[in-house]
Amino acid sequence: MEYHLPVMAKECAEYLNLRAGGIYIDATVGGGGHSRYFYEKEPEIRLFAFDQDDEALSQASKTLENYNPVFIKSNFRHLRTELALRKISAIDGILFDLGVSSHQIDEAERGFSFDKDAPLDMRMDRENELCAKQVVNEYEVRELRRIFKEYGEDNLSARIARTIEEERRKQSIETTGDLARIIEQVAGKGSKESLKTKVRIFQALRIYINDELNALSFALQDAINILAPGGRIVVLSYHSLEDRIVKNTFRTAEQDCLCPTSIINCICDHKSQLKVLTKRPVLADKEELQQNIRSRSAKLRAAEKKGE
Ligand SMILES: C[S@@+](CC[C@H](N)C(=O)[O-])C[C@H]1O[C@@H](n2cnc3c(N)ncnc32)[C@H](O)[C@@H]1O
Repeated sequence: MEYHLPVMAKECAEYLNLRAGGIYIDATVGGGGHSRYFYEKEPEIRLFAFDQDDEALSQASKTLENYNPVFIKSNFRHLRTELALRKISAIDGILFDLGVSSHQIDEAERGFSFDKDAPLDMRMDRENELCAKQVVNEYEVRELRRIFKEYGEDNLSARIARTIEEERRKQSIETTGDLARIIEQVAGKGSKESLKTKVRIFQALRIYINDELNALSFALQDAINILAPGGRIVVLSYHSLEDRIVKNTFRTAEQDCLCPTSIINCICDHKSQLKVLTKRPVLADKEELQQNIRSRSAKLRAAEKKGE
Protein backbone atom coordinates (compact mmCIF):
# COMPACT_ATOMS: atom_id res chain seq x y z
CA MET A 1 0.00 0.00 0.00
CA GLU A 2 1.21 3.54 -0.82
CA TYR A 3 2.69 5.17 2.34
CA HIS A 4 1.05 8.52 1.58
CA LEU A 5 -0.20 10.03 -1.69
CA PRO A 6 1.15 13.59 -1.95
CA VAL A 7 -1.61 16.21 -2.22
CA MET A 8 -1.54 18.81 -5.05
CA ALA A 9 2.10 17.92 -5.84
CA LYS A 10 1.96 19.61 -9.24
CA GLU A 11 0.55 22.84 -7.78
CA CYS A 12 3.13 22.81 -4.95
CA ALA A 13 5.99 22.42 -7.45
CA GLU A 14 4.63 25.22 -9.64
CA TYR A 15 4.23 27.63 -6.74
CA LEU A 16 7.73 26.79 -5.47
CA ASN A 17 9.10 27.80 -8.86
CA LEU A 18 11.88 25.20 -8.63
CA ARG A 19 15.17 26.08 -10.30
CA ALA A 20 18.50 24.27 -10.68
CA GLY A 21 20.90 25.00 -7.83
CA GLY A 22 18.14 26.49 -5.63
CA ILE A 23 17.91 25.57 -1.94
CA TYR A 24 14.52 24.10 -1.00
CA ILE A 25 13.08 22.82 2.25
CA ASP A 26 10.49 20.09 2.64
CA ALA A 27 9.49 20.88 6.23
CA THR A 28 7.29 17.76 6.48
CA VAL A 29 8.87 15.11 4.27
CA GLY A 30 6.62 12.24 5.48
CA GLY A 31 6.91 9.41 2.94
CA GLY A 32 8.84 11.68 0.57
CA GLY A 33 6.13 11.91 -2.11
CA HIS A 34 6.31 15.67 -2.60
CA SER A 35 10.10 15.71 -2.51
CA ARG A 36 10.33 12.95 -5.13
CA TYR A 37 7.99 14.91 -7.39
CA PHE A 38 10.18 18.02 -6.97
CA TYR A 39 13.34 16.09 -7.91
CA GLU A 40 11.55 14.65 -10.95
CA LYS A 41 10.67 18.18 -12.05
CA GLU A 42 14.11 19.66 -11.33
CA PRO A 43 16.85 17.13 -10.44
CA GLU A 44 19.41 19.84 -9.69
CA ILE A 45 17.75 21.26 -6.55
CA ARG A 46 19.44 21.18 -3.12
CA LEU A 47 16.86 19.77 -0.74
CA PHE A 48 16.71 19.70 3.07
CA ALA A 49 14.00 17.35 4.36
CA PHE A 50 12.61 17.67 7.89
CA ASP A 51 10.36 15.36 9.87
CA GLN A 52 9.97 14.76 13.58
CA ASP A 53 8.96 11.13 13.04
CA ASP A 54 11.76 8.54 12.64
CA GLU A 55 9.52 6.15 10.71
CA ALA A 56 8.65 8.86 8.20
CA LEU A 57 12.32 9.67 7.66
CA SER A 58 13.20 6.04 7.11
CA GLN A 59 10.40 5.72 4.52
CA ALA A 60 11.47 8.99 2.86
CA SER A 61 15.06 7.80 2.58
CA LYS A 62 13.78 4.79 0.59
CA THR A 63 11.52 6.91 -1.63
CA LEU A 64 14.38 9.32 -2.31
CA GLU A 65 17.19 6.77 -2.58
CA ASN A 66 18.07 7.97 -6.09
CA TYR A 67 18.53 11.54 -4.92
CA ASN A 68 20.68 13.28 -2.41
CA PRO A 69 18.61 15.26 0.12
CA VAL A 70 19.84 16.16 3.59
CA PHE A 71 17.48 14.54 6.12
CA ILE A 72 16.91 16.36 9.39
CA LYS A 73 15.14 14.67 12.31
CA SER A 74 13.61 17.69 13.99
CA ASN A 75 10.44 19.56 14.66
CA PHE A 76 10.17 22.26 12.00
CA ARG A 77 9.87 24.83 14.80
CA HIS A 78 13.70 24.57 14.95
CA LEU A 79 14.00 25.20 11.21
CA ARG A 80 16.25 28.22 11.42
CA THR A 81 18.66 26.72 13.95
CA GLU A 82 18.90 23.39 12.14
CA LEU A 83 19.65 25.16 8.86
CA ALA A 84 22.14 27.54 10.50
CA LEU A 85 23.99 24.49 11.88
CA ARG A 86 24.36 23.42 8.24
CA LYS A 87 25.53 26.90 7.21
CA ILE A 88 22.27 27.74 5.42
CA SER A 89 20.96 31.25 6.11
CA ALA A 90 18.80 31.87 3.02
CA ILE A 91 16.48 29.55 1.09
CA ASP A 92 14.64 29.66 -2.25
CA GLY A 93 11.51 27.81 -1.25
CA ILE A 94 9.80 25.85 1.48
CA LEU A 95 6.83 23.50 1.64
CA PHE A 96 4.77 22.72 4.75
CA ASP A 97 2.34 19.80 4.25
CA LEU A 98 0.74 19.87 7.68
CA GLY A 99 -0.68 17.26 10.02
CA VAL A 100 -0.15 13.52 9.97
CA SER A 101 0.37 11.18 7.01
CA SER A 102 -2.07 8.46 5.95
CA HIS A 103 0.54 5.97 7.13
CA GLN A 104 0.67 7.44 10.64
CA ILE A 105 -3.12 7.25 10.83
CA ASP A 106 -3.24 3.70 9.45
CA GLU A 107 -0.61 2.40 11.88
CA ALA A 108 -2.90 1.43 14.76
CA GLU A 109 -0.15 1.45 17.38
CA ARG A 110 0.49 5.18 16.89
CA GLY A 111 -2.90 5.81 18.51
CA PHE A 112 -4.05 8.55 16.12
CA SER A 113 -7.20 6.79 14.96
CA PHE A 114 -10.36 5.58 16.68
CA ASP A 115 -11.00 3.04 13.91
CA LYS A 116 -8.58 0.58 15.49
CA ASP A 117 -8.13 -0.15 19.17
CA ALA A 118 -4.59 0.77 20.26
CA PRO A 119 -2.77 2.44 23.16
CA LEU A 120 -3.61 6.15 23.43
CA ASP A 121 -0.38 7.70 22.17
CA MET A 122 -0.64 10.34 19.36
CA ARG A 123 2.98 11.53 19.55
CA MET A 124 4.49 12.28 16.15
CA ASP A 125 7.92 12.33 17.80
CA ARG A 126 8.09 9.26 20.01
CA GLU A 127 10.97 10.76 21.97
CA ASN A 128 8.59 13.34 23.44
CA GLU A 129 7.27 12.47 26.87
CA LEU A 130 3.70 13.69 26.77
CA CYS A 131 1.22 11.27 25.21
CA ALA A 132 -2.58 11.23 24.96
CA LYS A 133 -3.01 8.66 27.75
CA GLN A 134 -1.45 11.04 30.28
CA VAL A 135 -3.60 13.97 29.20
CA VAL A 136 -6.84 12.00 29.28
CA ASN A 137 -6.15 10.35 32.65
CA GLU A 138 -4.38 13.12 34.53
CA TYR A 139 -5.58 16.53 33.36
CA GLU A 140 -8.25 18.45 35.25
CA VAL A 141 -11.69 18.57 33.67
CA ARG A 142 -11.34 22.31 33.05
CA GLU A 143 -8.16 21.80 31.06
CA LEU A 144 -9.63 18.90 29.07
CA ARG A 145 -12.64 21.04 28.21
CA ARG A 146 -10.37 23.86 27.04
CA ILE A 147 -8.31 21.53 24.83
CA PHE A 148 -11.42 19.99 23.24
CA LYS A 149 -13.06 23.38 22.71
CA GLU A 150 -10.00 25.26 21.49
CA TYR A 151 -8.51 22.61 19.20
CA GLY A 152 -11.60 20.57 18.30
CA GLU A 153 -14.26 23.32 18.34
CA ASP A 154 -16.85 20.76 19.46
CA ASN A 155 -20.04 21.79 21.27
CA LEU A 156 -20.00 18.66 23.43
CA SER A 157 -16.51 19.43 24.80
CA ALA A 158 -17.65 20.15 28.37
CA ARG A 159 -19.84 17.05 28.64
CA ILE A 160 -17.16 14.82 27.17
CA ALA A 161 -14.56 16.20 29.60
CA ARG A 162 -16.90 15.51 32.55
CA THR A 163 -17.68 11.99 31.35
CA ILE A 164 -13.97 11.26 30.98
CA GLU A 165 -13.48 12.27 34.60
CA GLU A 166 -16.32 9.99 35.77
CA GLU A 167 -15.06 7.03 33.76
CA ARG A 168 -11.39 7.32 34.74
CA ARG A 169 -12.41 7.18 38.41
CA LYS A 170 -13.70 3.66 37.72
CA GLN A 171 -10.71 2.59 35.63
CA SER A 172 -7.87 4.13 33.70
CA ILE A 173 -8.52 5.04 30.04
CA GLU A 174 -5.90 3.07 28.15
CA THR A 175 -6.83 2.81 24.49
CA THR A 176 -8.28 4.70 21.54
CA GLY A 177 -11.25 2.32 21.80
CA ASP A 178 -11.83 3.26 25.47
CA LEU A 179 -11.85 6.95 24.56
CA ALA A 180 -14.07 6.41 21.51
CA ARG A 181 -16.64 4.57 23.69
CA ILE A 182 -16.68 7.42 26.21
CA ILE A 183 -17.27 9.95 23.42
CA GLU A 184 -20.10 7.73 22.14
CA GLN A 185 -21.73 7.77 25.60
CA VAL A 186 -22.17 11.52 25.12
CA ALA A 187 -22.49 11.93 21.34
CA GLY A 188 -24.31 8.70 20.51
CA LYS A 189 -23.21 5.98 18.16
CA GLY A 190 -23.50 5.56 14.40
CA SER A 191 -24.74 9.02 13.37
CA LYS A 192 -22.76 11.42 11.17
CA GLU A 193 -22.69 13.96 14.00
CA SER A 194 -21.25 11.50 16.52
CA LEU A 195 -18.57 10.52 14.00
CA LYS A 196 -17.68 14.20 13.57
CA THR A 197 -17.44 14.64 17.33
CA LYS A 198 -15.02 11.71 17.57
CA VAL A 199 -12.92 13.19 14.75
CA ARG A 200 -12.86 16.59 16.49
CA ILE A 201 -11.94 15.25 19.94
CA PHE A 202 -9.16 13.05 18.53
CA GLN A 203 -7.93 15.98 16.43
CA ALA A 204 -7.92 18.25 19.49
CA LEU A 205 -5.80 15.82 21.49
CA ARG A 206 -3.36 15.34 18.61
CA ILE A 207 -2.93 19.09 18.13
CA TYR A 208 -2.35 19.57 21.85
CA ILE A 209 0.05 16.63 22.32
CA ASN A 210 2.22 17.77 19.41
CA ASP A 211 1.81 21.51 20.09
CA GLU A 212 1.02 21.79 16.40
CA LEU A 213 -0.32 25.33 16.21
CA ASN A 214 2.52 26.99 18.12
CA ALA A 215 5.08 25.07 16.05
CA LEU A 216 3.35 26.28 12.89
CA SER A 217 3.28 29.94 13.98
CA PHE A 218 6.98 29.94 14.93
CA ALA A 219 8.07 28.11 11.81
CA LEU A 220 6.08 30.25 9.37
CA GLN A 221 7.66 33.41 10.72
CA ASP A 222 11.15 31.91 10.62
CA ALA A 223 10.59 30.62 7.11
CA ILE A 224 9.47 34.05 5.88
CA ASN A 225 12.54 35.64 7.47
CA ILE A 226 15.04 33.29 5.82
CA LEU A 227 13.45 33.24 2.35
CA ALA A 228 15.70 34.92 -0.20
CA PRO A 229 14.10 37.70 -2.29
CA GLY A 230 11.83 36.00 -4.84
CA GLY A 231 11.76 32.83 -2.67
CA ARG A 232 8.45 31.05 -2.23
CA ILE A 233 6.56 29.59 0.73
CA VAL A 234 3.81 27.03 0.14
CA VAL A 235 1.54 25.61 2.85
CA LEU A 236 -1.01 22.79 2.64
CA SER A 237 -3.39 22.82 5.60
CA TYR A 238 -6.18 20.42 6.46
CA HIS A 239 -8.37 22.18 9.02
CA SER A 240 -9.58 25.68 9.71
CA LEU A 241 -7.32 26.31 12.74
CA GLU A 242 -4.19 25.73 10.66
CA ASP A 243 -5.51 27.61 7.66
CA ARG A 244 -6.40 30.64 9.79
CA ILE A 245 -2.83 30.83 11.12
CA VAL A 246 -1.39 30.61 7.60
CA LYS A 247 -3.81 33.20 6.20
CA ASN A 248 -3.21 35.68 9.04
CA THR A 249 0.57 35.23 9.06
CA PHE A 250 0.75 35.85 5.30
CA ARG A 251 -1.61 38.82 5.55
CA THR A 252 0.40 40.45 8.35
CA ALA A 253 3.69 39.85 6.51
CA GLU A 254 2.20 41.44 3.39
CA GLN A 255 1.23 44.70 5.12
CA ASP A 256 3.46 47.75 5.25
CA CYS A 257 2.15 49.21 8.48
CA LEU A 258 0.41 47.47 11.39
CA CYS A 259 -0.52 50.60 13.37
CA PRO A 260 -4.20 51.03 14.35
CA THR A 261 -6.09 53.26 11.88
CA SER A 262 -6.33 55.97 14.58
CA ILE A 263 -2.56 56.56 14.26
CA ILE A 264 -1.90 58.83 11.29
CA ASN A 265 1.91 58.68 11.15
CA CYS A 266 3.22 55.12 11.31
CA ILE A 267 5.17 54.28 14.46
CA CYS A 268 5.51 50.52 13.97
CA ASP A 269 8.06 50.59 11.13
CA HIS A 270 6.69 47.28 9.87
CA LYS A 271 7.68 46.69 6.24
CA SER A 272 5.90 44.36 3.87
CA GLN A 273 7.96 41.18 3.40
CA LEU A 274 5.65 39.08 1.26
CA LYS A 275 3.42 39.14 -1.77
CA VAL A 276 0.56 36.66 -1.35
CA LEU A 277 0.15 34.63 -4.56
CA THR A 278 -3.14 32.94 -3.65
CA LYS A 279 -5.86 35.46 -2.78
CA ARG A 280 -8.10 32.47 -2.10
CA PRO A 281 -6.82 29.05 -1.08
CA VAL A 282 -6.22 26.65 -3.97
CA LEU A 283 -8.20 23.39 -3.75
CA ALA A 284 -7.54 20.00 -5.34
CA ASP A 285 -9.11 19.43 -8.77
CA LYS A 286 -11.94 16.99 -9.46
CA GLU A 287 -9.69 14.15 -10.55
CA GLU A 288 -7.50 14.35 -7.45
CA LEU A 289 -10.55 14.62 -5.17
CA GLN A 290 -11.69 11.27 -6.55
CA GLN A 291 -8.31 9.59 -6.25
CA ASN A 292 -7.16 10.86 -2.87
CA ILE A 293 -9.62 11.29 0.01
CA ARG A 294 -7.08 13.33 1.95
CA SER A 295 -7.09 16.03 -0.71
CA ARG A 296 -10.74 16.86 0.09
CA SER A 297 -9.90 19.00 3.09
CA ALA A 298 -6.64 20.42 1.69
CA LYS A 299 -6.10 24.15 1.20
CA LEU A 300 -2.98 25.47 -0.47
CA ARG A 301 -1.68 28.99 0.16
CA ALA A 302 1.49 30.41 -1.34
CA ALA A 303 3.47 33.63 -1.10
CA GLU A 304 6.67 35.18 -2.46
CA LYS A 305 9.34 37.07 -0.53
CA LYS A 306 9.75 40.67 -1.61
CA GLY A 307 13.04 42.46 -2.15
CA GLU A 308 15.81 42.85 -4.68
C1 LIG B 1 0.96 15.13 5.70
S1 LIG B 1 2.44 14.35 6.13
C2 LIG B 1 3.54 14.80 4.84
C3 LIG B 1 3.47 13.89 3.67
C4 LIG B 1 4.51 14.20 2.60
N1 LIG B 1 4.33 15.51 2.02
C5 LIG B 1 4.52 13.14 1.52
O1 LIG B 1 4.40 13.48 0.33
O2 LIG B 1 4.66 11.96 1.86
C6 LIG B 1 3.03 15.33 7.42
C7 LIG B 1 4.37 14.89 7.99
O3 LIG B 1 4.87 15.99 8.72
C8 LIG B 1 5.39 15.57 9.94
N2 LIG B 1 5.22 16.70 10.85
C9 LIG B 1 4.07 17.26 11.27
N3 LIG B 1 4.31 18.30 12.07
C10 LIG B 1 5.67 18.43 12.13
C11 LIG B 1 6.54 19.32 12.81
N4 LIG B 1 6.08 20.30 13.60
N5 LIG B 1 7.87 19.17 12.63
C12 LIG B 1 8.35 18.18 11.84
N6 LIG B 1 7.58 17.28 11.20
C13 LIG B 1 6.25 17.41 11.34
C14 LIG B 1 4.60 14.34 10.31
O4 LIG B 1 5.37 13.49 11.14
C15 LIG B 1 4.31 13.72 8.94
O5 LIG B 1 5.28 12.76 8.59
